[in-house]
Order: sequence, then structure tokens, then C-alpha cells
Amino acid sequence: MKEAMAIAISLHVFAAVIWVGGMFFAHQVLRPVAATQLEPPQRQPLWVGVFNRFFPWVWVAIITLLATGYWMIFAYFKGFASLPLYVHVMHALALLMFAIYLYVFFGPFKGLKKAVADKAWPTGKAHIDRIRDMVGINTLLGLLTIAVATGGKYLI
Ligand code: HEM
Repeated sequence: MKEAMAIAISLHVFAAVIWVGGMFFAHQVLRPVAATQLEPPQRQPLWVGVFNRFFPWVWVAIITLLATGYWMIFAYFKGFASLPLYVHVMHALALLMFAIYLYVFFGPFKGLKKAVADKAWPTGKAHIDRIRDMVGINTLLGLLTIAVATGGKYLI
């Protein structure tokens, strides 16, 4: 049991680091540089390429977070009834983050790919701006979730 919990929580934290760290890098580092150095016909295909490589990792991270998170809840905490408050809060924030990601993936990201294929740069910009805002929100939610998950147990 101890070994399984050690593996589950390691995988869980790997997934959180890859997802939240990737969003932080895209939003805070790559985006401002791309915005100042590239014109839309170069910048928008760059973002399609970046997301095409990053989003499969996000799917893996989400599946890993769900699988290991629920496994820990049922195997270690013996279900939702005896769950500490900070895990409930982590769970709720995580579901919100997943919903935002699903929206980005099936909404503006799909629209961006089509706009880039059609070379419709103004439409592409509108989709990129939406993705930027949503990824900014999810980065903050991710950091908050990590703070709740790690610091929460010392506060309650
Ligand atoms: C359905 C989604 C999720 C569920 C059910 C879930 C559940 C859990 C559970 C049961 C633990 C173990 C808590 C403990 O040992 O005290 C845990 C730990 C943790 N979770 Fe989640 N989690 C989810 C999503 C997330 C997300 C999205 C993040 C971050 C973005 C996250 C970050 C963490 C971290 C950093 C820990 C380690 C806490 C520590 O040991 O100090 N979790 N999670």
C-alpha cells in the first residue's frame, strides 16, 4: 500500500508539473517573445505547432491526474466521506481546469487550426487571444491548486 501510494502521488505530481509548468512557459515566456518577433503568418502556425506538441501531453497529464487522484481517494482515504477539505478543494479546482482545457481544445484551438489552414489571420488572432486568456486563467488556477494541495494540509 505504501509503495503504491508513493508511485501514485509521484505520477500525480509529475502530471501537475508538466501541465502547469508547460502553461507557464507558453504564457509567460514564449508568448511575449513570439508576439514581438513574429508577424501573424509566422506566429500563428508556430502556435499550432506548439499546441500540437503540447496538448497530447496535457491529455496524458489529465488522465494521469484523474486516475491517480481517484485511486488515492478510494484506496488511501477510503472514499469521499472521510476526505480532508483541501482534497475536496483540489478536486473542485481540478474539474474547473479540465473544463477550461476541454473548451480550449474543442473551441478556439480547433478554430485556430482552421484559420491558419485558410490563412485567415484576423480570425486566427481572435482564437489565439481567447486561448491566451484561458491558458492564463488555467495557469493561475493550476498554481492555486498546487498551493491548496501542498499547503492546505497545514492550514486545516
Ligand atoms: C480529479 C482531479 C484530482 C483528484 C481527484 C486529486 C486528488 C488528490 C489526492 C487524493 C491527493 C493526495 C493528498 C494527500 O496525500 O494528502 C493529491 C495530491 C496532490 N495533488 Fe491532486 N487531485 C486532482 C487533481 C490535481 C491537479 C489538477 C493538481 C495540480 C494542478 C493537483 C496537485 C496535487 C499535488 C501537488 C499533490 C501533492 C500534495 C502533497 O502531498 O503535498 N491535483 N491529489
